[in-house]
Amino acid sequence: MTYQPRRQVIRSAIAAALAAFGVPGRGAPTGRTDRPTALDASAAVDVHIELHAVEDQVAIRPGTRTKVWRYHGKLLRGDAGSLEASPGTYPGPIIRMRQGQRVRIDLINSLPESTVTHWHGLHVPEAMDGHPRFAIAPGERYIYDFTVINRAGSYWFHAHPDGRTGKQIYFGLSGLFLVSDEEEAALDLPSGPYDLPLVIQDRTFDDDNQLVYLSERAGDATSEGSEGRGMMGGGMMGGGGMGGGMMGDGRGAGRTGGMGQMMAGMMGMLGDQILVNGQPDASLAVEAGPYRLRLLNASNTRIYKLAWNEHSPLTVIGTDDGLLAEPLQRDYIMLAPAERVDLWVDFGRWPAGTELTLQSLSFEGGMAMSGMMMGGTALPDGAQFPVLQMRVKDASKNSAVLPQRLSRLPLPQPRAAVNFDRPKVFDITMGMMRWGINGKSFEMEAVTSLETVKLGTQEVWEFRNDATMMTMAHSMHVHGLQFQVIGRSVGGGFARARDSVKDGYLDEGWKDTVLVMPGERVHILVRFADYPGLFLYHCHMLEHEDSGLMRNYLVKA
Ligand code: C2O
Ligand code: CU
Repeated sequence: MTYQPRRQVIRSAIAAALAAFGVPGRGAPTGRTDRPTALDASAAVDVHIELHAVEDQVAIRPGTRTKVWRYHGKLLRGDAGSLEASPGTYPGPIIRMRQGQRVRIDLINSLPESTVTHWHGLHVPEAMDGHPRFAIAPGERYIYDFTVINRAGSYWFHAHPDGRTGKQIYFGLSGLFLVSDEEEAALDLPSGPYDLPLVIQDRTFDDDNQLVYLSERAGDATSEGSEGRGMMGGGMMGGGGMGGGMMGDGRGAGRTGGMGQMMAGMMGMLGDQILVNGQPDASLAVEAGPYRLRLLNASNTRIYKLAWNEHSPLTVIGTDDGLLAEPLQRDYIMLAPAERVDLWVDFGRWPAGTELTLQSLSFEGGMAMSGMMMGGTALPDGAQFPVLQMRVKDASKNSAVLPQRLSRLPLPQPRAAVNFDRPKVFDITMGMMRWGINGKSFEMEAVTSLETVKLGTQEVWEFRNDATMMTMAHSMHVHGLQFQVIGRSVGGGFARARDSVKDGYLDEGWKDTVLVMPGERVHILVRFADYPGLFLYHCHMLEHEDSGLMRNYLVKA
């Protein structure tokens, strides 16, 4: 493991000492009135974790180790099961919490640049949400302290600094945050080794096994000169011209520089290798019995259209923020960046020895100009490829039975929204080669009156993806809350793209991220409860987010 240089060790020691007296390090929120002193906190919290963001090297492929940025967790207080390390690979650790537990997490930044951590899907106060304005410099510490009030579900955490989220998650800064509750426990779903989290990502490696992200690598990422805010950085100046990108050598957009890289920065990074839990060519031996598979798409831009190779349907028991009312069957499911899905699979259906493949099927319109513009990635958006191989072993000791009722879910009540008949329209736009929402790109603190809502109310929002210069799919996420998808309509055109994916939409249950295909308008019902403050909503295709497709919304008390 690579640790920080000595000067930073000292700085973090100072930050730690300050933190021990209840003084947040620089960058920590000011104006929090509810933050206890650290002494209180360690007595009252159920779980206390130190989360170090570090440079590291892991053996991902045979040969040279891959430089990554990752989280190392250290459990200081709480049940041993609260933290599961992920030795030998980069996503992780897994944090496991029960509803109602209070957790303190000290993020310690041992990276060569600023970072901050967002708890994706968790309903937490403003200062705990990991907004980029709370980013901390190398050597500093940020103390998160909140009670987990979310229902059981597969949430996750990841880096979220301004303009650098794509890069930091790509190099490895993400992990799962799994919450359980009593309702879920009463169902006796498959647990322990039969509850398998599967984090799906795509990456591009160079000949020396190093990750290639646009023009940057983990090893030389410290040079400030190579920072690009989205596509406007090194790409424009990088030389190399468009030709290299257009021809494509199967190494992804990263090496092409010039126009190819600018377009990749704008449209999104697509890797040509699929990894599951950090493993390329992943395969898994499973017992011939029931499993719960928790899938997270933690890719920067790639959308998956998941299906079994032998065409039997998938049984879905949960979406982003927990269990559905009852199981659903789908021939295939769409999983856009940051979406999660919970599957029930009884491998006892297949004879021992069966080889199964979870694959991504081809579809249209994820990216209107993919092959041409993506710098020649060997694996364009919408291509067909295997994700995970599974081999069925013999009998299982697990005898769980699929419950026909999973959860009490409230039906959406759109009429309770203050703007029921006038949805607020958030139109995805592009101008001057930057993404935006209603023509405005991200600004750290700015918020419009349309983006201002009242605590305790519900609103209907419409994410509109009609025509931009480059119409493509987006994966829209709202921080700090759960929403219900109450409708989709088509604004015009792109019918073929939509038709190639629409049977795989999972709009049921509580969501925090939703796929919006080209030409679509998606209506969501959003409820602003408990926490006033400034939160984000954005596209979770990380290069879109980093190049402007993100805004604040303000919940006013
Ligand atoms: Cu998982 Cu602001 O995002
Ligand atoms: Cu997007």
